[in-house]
Amino acid sequence: MVKIAPSLLSCDFLCIGEAIKFINESADIIHIDVMDGSFVPNITIGLPVVQAISTVAVKTMDTHLMIVNPQNYVERFAAVMPKGSMLSFHLEACPDASAVLDKIRSLGMKAGLVINPDCPVEKLFPHLEHMDYALIMSVFAGFGGQKFKEETFERVKTLKAEIQRRGLSVEIEIDGGVGESNASLLAGCGADILVAGTSVFKAADPAEAVRRLKK
Ligand code: DX5
Ligand code: ZN
Repeated sequence: MVKIAPSLLSCDFLCIGEAIKFINESADIIHIDVMDGSFVPNITIGLPVVQAISTVAVKTMDTHLMIVNPQNYVERFAAVMPKGSMLSFHLEACPDASAVLDKIRSLGMKAGLVINPDCPVEKLFPHLEHMDYALIMSVFAGFGGQKFKEETFERVKTLKAEIQRRGLSVEIEIDGGVGESNASLLAGCGADILVAGTSVFKAADPAEAVRRLKK
């Protein structure tokens, strides 16, 4: 069954502990968006907040780095998350992605590689053996609440076929504009993890929103 990763970017930051409690009880993965104001125009969460989250996280932490030079930061992020957490960075931000993925794995984390919608999905292929999951952005990284890009379905299918052809166990995560209208289609195309910010945290009943996404 598809796993749901609510994105803290859309929660009430004055009540971030409540949001994590909600995910611990009602969802699968805690998605944390780290933005540096350089790789993307927005600035969000940094190391001290990730560390604080780790003290109350029961579910897997999934930190999505939208920063330049991620290779300079993976050790510091790995140091503030439990072993087995997920840590991803953008292919567009890093010339030697396989080496950084290997580094993340050597630190006891699950390694993920992310691409924006304008990056051909085939660019992930040379790195597949080095990653535990691929994150396909279904909006351009930087802000919550954007509209889902329909071309994502074909991209997921293409990636899934390559993963299966090579007999790998790389999971596929989708991030951006995910909601009830596209969740089951994404799962049908081969997505394993759905990140959802607005559609969960802005829902009248977030727990019910997670249940509906999983259906
Ligand atoms: C965007 C972030 C997403 C964002 C998703 O750059 O990576 O995780 O929080 O938010 P929604 O689900 O509202 O598109
Ligand atoms: Zn994200």
